[in-house]
Amino acid sequence: MSNYHIKHLEEYYQVYRKSVRNPEVFWEEIAEEHFMWRKKWDNVLSWDFTKPEVKWFEGAQLNITENCIDRHLHIRGDKTAIIFEPNNPEEEAQHISYRDLHDKVCRFANVLKEQGIQKGDRVCIYLPMIPELAISVLACARIGAIHSVVFAGFSSSALATRINDATCKMVITSDGSYRGAKTIDLKGIVDEALKECACVETVLVAKRINTEIHMEAGRDHWLQPLLDEAYHDCVPEVMEAEDPLFILYTSGSTGKPKGMVHSTAGYMVYSAYTFKNVFQYREEDVYWCTADIGWITGHSYIVYGPLCNGATTVMFEGVPSYPDFGRFWEIVEKHKVNQFYTAPTAIRALAKEGVEHLEKHDLSSLKVLGTVGEPINEEAWHWYDDNVGKRKAPIVDTWWQTETGGIMITPIPFATPTKPTYATLPFIGIQPALMDENGNEIKGNQVDGRLCIKFPWPSMARTIWGNHQRYKDTYFSAYENKYFTGDGALRDEVGYYRITGRVDDVIIVSGHNLGTAPIEDAINEHPAVAESAIVGFPHDIKGNALYGYVTLKETGESRNQNNLRKEINQIITEQIGPIAKLDKIQFTNGLPKTRSGKIMRRILRKIAGKDTSNLGDTSTLLNPEVVQDIMDNAL
Ligand code: WTA
Repeated sequence: MSNYHIKHLEEYYQVYRKSVRNPEVFWEEIAEEHFMWRKKWDNVLSWDFTKPEVKWFEGAQLNITENCIDRHLHIRGDKTAIIFEPNNPEEEAQHISYRDLHDKVCRFANVLKEQGIQKGDRVCIYLPMIPELAISVLACARIGAIHSVVFAGFSSSALATRINDATCKMVITSDGSYRGAKTIDLKGIVDEALKECACVETVLVAKRINTEIHMEAGRDHWLQPLLDEAYHDCVPEVMEAEDPLFILYTSGSTGKPKGMVHSTAGYMVYSAYTFKNVFQYREEDVYWCTADIGWITGHSYIVYGPLCNGATTVMFEGVPSYPDFGRFWEIVEKHKVNQFYTAPTAIRALAKEGVEHLEKHDLSSLKVLGTVGEPINEEAWHWYDDNVGKRKAPIVDTWWQTETGGIMITPIPFATPTKPTYATLPFIGIQPALMDENGNEIKGNQVDGRLCIKFPWPSMARTIWGNHQRYKDTYFSAYENKYFTGDGALRDEVGYYRITGRVDDVIIVSGHNLGTAPIEDAINEHPAVAESAIVGFPHDIKGNALYGYVTLKETGESRNQNNLRKEINQIITEQIGPIAKLDKIQFTNGLPKTRSGKIMRRILRKIAGKDTSNLGDTSTLLNPEVVQDIMDNAL
């Protein structure tokens, strides 16, 4: 029996039991048989959640790009590795073979070296979904530089924070980007950010939209001429198993974004193994994940996981609504996509447009459908199942996080019977636990609690860049000897998990994690604002939208409230990005606070969600009178 490819439910249970009873033996076998190592490990796993410290495959040496590219060359060199589908459907798609990819990654890696980048240096990548994004990620990995991809929808100020936090020496960007009918001046955003970033020595600029841009002499270089001159082969840097592969920022409930650090060997093994099984990928399949590589989903399931398995992975530059709402289905038909992985928010937006867009396209190639990023509601699940998969393509509702590196709870298609809104069973090797408020594990089924993981898995983040204490405080302090996810979950009568949502102050809007604190900090910079509180409220398409309660320094109607609302959203756009804009802004005379001065968000959440029948215990409030006032003026 091959443990690498699970095909039946019985097999799942058997392999799962093995992976949990003897994790080291299990993961050693997977690592041994399916990857290329320069040197094997001395020790499979050592861990201590109290420090916390986790090491997988210690002593091993490897380069992840040899696993993603080189080892495929002699068996599938001409196979398409990446299909690039441009924003504009009139522009031709590109098919990049494994051989081409090798050439492109090596040239890029040599350019990085010529520009002074060495093993361990941090490189910030701020690019749209064009081939250079995947190639630059792999080029960094080729030479052992640590990539930090920042989603190209973040503002200059958010970009600057991330560049400085990781002290990146280089930024890779483009002259601009296409997004549906819009073009975005990415280089201008980078220039603005770099006014605050003394650490950046070099900027490499890919040409995408061919506009005139400012090039800073001595700092900025056009990428293409450098690539043309670079040598087409590059010996991969030999990396230690635990060397950092990348940093990826995610929002926390407080403070600045957390730079989650992923290491090399464990991340590779787990992202590849999950990809194979969760999508049941077979050699001739075409796989498409609609995420952006700026998020963890793109790292693990557009780049590393698929390429490690020699897959054909689609990279789409555009948006689901351009030129119309049939675009996704047009792409599925055009490239005969077999596995399709997207977010509930996209499904809801497409469902709203009706089925006529679907009916125009042949979707019969689809075998597996996936969703990720937020809980999927029952209606959206059924719409996806009925209309996209025609009830023949199982839906894998995959729960995981930036911090987990790979999919943690998911059905295995054709093995695990699916159940709408349930992520179902833990993946191989994953040991979930539900915890009660007193820190005890809740055993048995038909229970709900806070979701923790009891045992290390290979792709867990190892630390927060530059702040190990914060890593410990955030993930390993709430429950003894367990990783705390920040999510609530319930377990049904057969042991299936349903993720109920965040239990902290992170709000997931259209699948993007947003911390309330940085948004409030941004609003509070407006000269008229005294204080503010942000909560989430249910939204038909986005899942959650943001509701802001804002108290002004001077009350009275002297200022036009609609103008103020615009100004507040403008500040948020500048400081974070348009994804963090507020849907509703209510001006208040005060915010409900406890005697210790903490804003009681629970009440604000209920008012925003129009669920005020029972506000719970308000006896500890310092200023109970503001609650009625806020309710009377709720939007
Ligand atoms: C949420 C995305 C319900 C969850 C890979 C988690 C989900 C956060 C699901 C991580 C799902 C992700 N069902 N909720 N299938 N997948 N989430 O770091 O709250 O962007 O903690 O990683 O998204 O978001 P992140």
